Amino acid sequence: MPGRPFLQIPGPTLVPERIVRAMSQPVIDHRGPTFGALVKECLDGLREVFKAPNGHIVLYPGSGTGAWEAAIVNTLSPGDRVLACVNGHFAAGFARTAQAYGVEVERLEVPYGEGAPVMPLEARLAADTAREIRAVLVVHNETSTGVTSDIGAVRAALDRARHPALLLVDTVSSLASIDVRHDAWGVDVTLTGPQKGLMLPPGMAILAISERAVTAGDKARCPRAFWDWRPVLERNRRGEFPYTPATTLLFGLRESIAMLREEGLDNVFARHARLAEACRRAVRALGLDILCKNPRQYSNTLTAVVMPAGFDSDAFIRQAYASLDLSLGIGLGDVKGKVFRIGHLGSLNELELLGGLAGVEMALRDFGVPLRLGAGVAAAQEFLLGA
Ligand SMILES: Cc1ncc(COP(=O)(O)O)c(C=O)c1O
Repeated sequence: MPGRPFLQIPGPTLVPERIVRAMSQPVIDHRGPTFGALVKECLDGLREVFKAPNGHIVLYPGSGTGAWEAAIVNTLSPGDRVLACVNGHFAAGFARTAQAYGVEVERLEVPYGEGAPVMPLEARLAADTAREIRAVLVVHNETSTGVTSDIGAVRAALDRARHPALLLVDTVSSLASIDVRHDAWGVDVTLTGPQKGLMLPPGMAILAISERAVTAGDKARCPRAFWDWRPVLERNRRGEFPYTPATTLLFGLRESIAMLREEGLDNVFARHARLAEACRRAVRALGLDILCKNPRQYSNTLTAVVMPAGFDSDAFIRQAYASLDLSLGIGLGDVKGKVFRIGHLGSLNELELLGGLAGVEMALRDFGVPLRLGAGVAAAQEFLLGA
């Protein structure tokens, strides 16, 4: 199809021209004279994005799933107990990764559409007088449900319970779109991928880690080779990696950081909040429900929309793609076939969002869902003009 592709999934997101151009250059020698400076710029820039001035950055070729594995194997040992907040498909995946390494996973489950359960978490931590729980696992922005959990509140719960557990947080679909504060929240591992807020193509696992996490890494006994962060930290000090890094993505990452600096992180967050609110107003004006029920937990990077009764969201998404070349996120896990997800993150502006929303309306109507064409777009426009 000619024109801009409507990749309206919650990541990967469209890669801006500037980043494409930054990556369009010959691959350089990763042991050559210019590579060290590129690595340093990327690591320093990421410390800013993670708000981790005291943290260390660890980069691997990989994906968010690999970042889960790196977080687990470098901080834990088989037989360790962890508390995992499970409120969606990705939170369940994080917990499953720990289980695969023989870690005892205690699941604090809440229904899809709710945030990390802070009160039960605090109660469980307080009851753990023997301090057996080694880590708490939370997904900041659950991409399967469009729910953002309050990591500051999770930190406060750990503090009130005076519990020394490590805090491991997935920010795959929040970093560089929704405020993430690695140091201020006392997070030990904040993990992400490049293909969402960072506006890059997929292909990396990115972590910010605390000094406590580094110390835990020296004692952890989970088997590890590729994901062992000790050689990465050691070689990074000399501007190198213990493997062939994703050189081209690093050119893109440097440009992405420059773009985020130019816009300013607070403005990036405000833009995401504004576009997200416009999207939610559009969804409501179409008479559809948002899966997330608590407005304080609405995600600013995606909206999970409940498909009206009698309509299958998988079939709807297939049809939207076939007829309009519009990509929407499918329902995952417990809400498979029941929701579709509109991504509104990364390099996105108002008119692009409105185009995507117009596509959603057309596709729903074409699929047989009764609605008034233009109602959602108009609600979003009203908000964007008035806000
Ligand atoms: C919150 C969250 N965690 C983890 C992942 C897994 O990342 P990846 O698909 O890059 O392996 C995703 C992917 O969308 C995600 O949204």
